[in-house]
Amino acid sequence: MSESILSIKDLNSYYGKSHVLQDVSININPLERVAILGRNGMGKSTLMKSILGLGGIRRDGNIYFNDENIIKKKTYEIARRGIAYVPQGRQLFSLLSVEEHLAIAYKPVKGGNGWTPKMVFDIFPEIGERKKISGTKLSGGEQQILAIGRALVKNPSLILMDEPSEGISTLVLERILGICHRLTKQGITLFLVEQNLGLALSVAQKVYILVNGRIVHEASAEEFNADKESQHNFLGI
Ligand SMILES: Nc1ncnc2c1ncn2[C@@H]1O[C@H](COP(=O)(O)OP(=O)(O)OP(=O)(O)O)[C@@H](O)[C@H]1O
Ligand SMILES: [Mg+2]
Repeated sequence: MSESILSIKDLNSYYGKSHVLQDVSININPLERVAILGRNGMGKSTLMKSILGLGGIRRDGNIYFNDENIIKKKTYEIARRGIAYVPQGRQLFSLLSVEEHLAIAYKPVKGGNGWTPKMVFDIFPEIGERKKISGTKLSGGEQQILAIGRALVKNPSLILMDEPSEGISTLVLERILGICHRLTKQGITLFLVEQNLGLALSVAQKVYILVNGRIVHEASAEEFNADKESQHNFLGI
């Protein structure tokens, strides 16, 4: 038995002949908040999709979720084990209303401690007031909130969040930050992909840096925050 909730070992991922992820190994402990940082096109989203078996990606290596190797499982089997995904670009459905997005995703927790659609609407009145409209008619920030709400009501043990800050205001960003911290108290582990260094460092306790499909650096958020040289070398900041 390992201590990790998610342990990726020597993952290689390919789109056809294009070898994108190379020997990626990552460990995430229960209730940890971990971020992947990297510039555009480095393979961050490919990593999230590889965990879930999405996007026609061929993979080899091992991905353990709660000590079970899931690399050969189908996407729905992986999701059912308790991994939810907030995809880059939100991927909402124009034919579903705001409340239908949550209703379809909702998985109640026995004992009643989990997230419900009502809790999402109470915390985010801006989408609570617009339950009947199409999910894609919301503003960018509201769509991001809905995409996060859709992951929360699945009551997962791990959330994969891909670039939640993309295209949203500072105000929405701060509330997303609040949610990320709240997840830990609710027993949810967070694996975040983020280009916004400030957000990543205020959410995550540990960061990995991806350059051209390889993990080139691992540090605590505190260490990386102080390490201007690595920020410059790996992220061009
Ligand atoms: N469906 C696909 N088919 C072929 N190549 C792809 C596909 N999706 C991504 N790639 C390539 O894989 C590499 C990694 O892409 P990926 O989307 O994982 O990067 P990223 O780090 O998430 O970038 P961004 O910050 O722009 O979201 C890039 O070279 C990209 O062009
Ligand atoms: Mg991406």
